[in-house]
Amino acid sequence: MQSEYREPGDRSADLPSVVAADLLGGPVPRHVACIMDGNGRWASRRGLPRTEGHSAGEAALLDAVEGALELGIPWITMYAFSTENWRRPADEVRYLMGFNESLLARRRDELNDKGVRIRFAGRRDWRVPKRVLRRMDESVALTAGNRRSTLTMAFNYGGRAEIVDAVRSLVADGVPAAKVDEKAIRSRLYYPDQPDPDLMIRTSGEERISNFLLWQLAYSELVFTEVLWPDFRRQHLFEAVREYQRRQRRYGGVA
Ligand code: IPE
Ligand code: IPE
Ligand code: MG
Repeated sequence: MQSEYREPGDRSADLPSVVAADLLGGPVPRHVACIMDGNGRWASRRGLPRTEGHSAGEAALLDAVEGALELGIPWITMYAFSTENWRRPADEVRYLMGFNESLLARRRDELNDKGVRIRFAGRRDWRVPKRVLRRMDESVALTAGNRRSTLTMAFNYGGRAEIVDAVRSLVADGVPAAKVDEKAIRSRLYYPDQPDPDLMIRTSGEERISNFLLWQLAYSELVFTEVLWPDFRRQHLFEAVREYQRRQRRYGGVA
């Protein structure tokens, strides 16, 4: 990564100096979730179309996953497209659909070789082009046997939609009101086998959740960084984990 050509003004050179080995003595999150934000601003600052920012985010995604593997993090969730992102201009939406499809085509073998299981969380509705769904299904099938780490791409994902889908499934199965509790709702989420994120990182300086994992983030530690997603590298992940290690989790109890 370090020897790659850098665009003028690429801030990925100013990397934090923390390395994986510094963190392995402390608690390492089991599940890290990221809101990959700031692609558009990264591009605009360079006078480029927003889509160039999405494209530059690919290297960040792969490096972050590599860093998570170095730390032995078994669950990684990345927010790639929200149920609200359909509000963007049609050209950008079309680009994002094609980009996500081609990213899978380019990267799935490499992720498979690293022992990463790929999954998708979100709605498979009519707006997602068939060829994108097909590529997603192929990537899931290819990597289904891997257990080193599970990379969940939140795609056409909304936290509220996930809760609505969970409730619909309870109602459809005729579950009586008295049996609807937290355990029942959790069991109907997209991936009930997945532990809640210990750490949620959002890039680009925005400090909000934007409909990401609403149920699951209830007690996650949140880390916000000014770094724009295309500049994000594993060292930023390590820095966020170092911040996580300084936090005291109380879950409503006392220390
Ligand atoms: C995140 O970057 C990528 C997606 C939401 C798909 P943005 O495209 O939101 O970038 P900004 O926030 O406009 O800079
Ligand atoms: C959240 O970012 C969605 C993804 C990163 C995929 P947005 O850029 O869409 O969020 P808002 O609009 O700033 O809240
Ligand atoms: Mg954004």
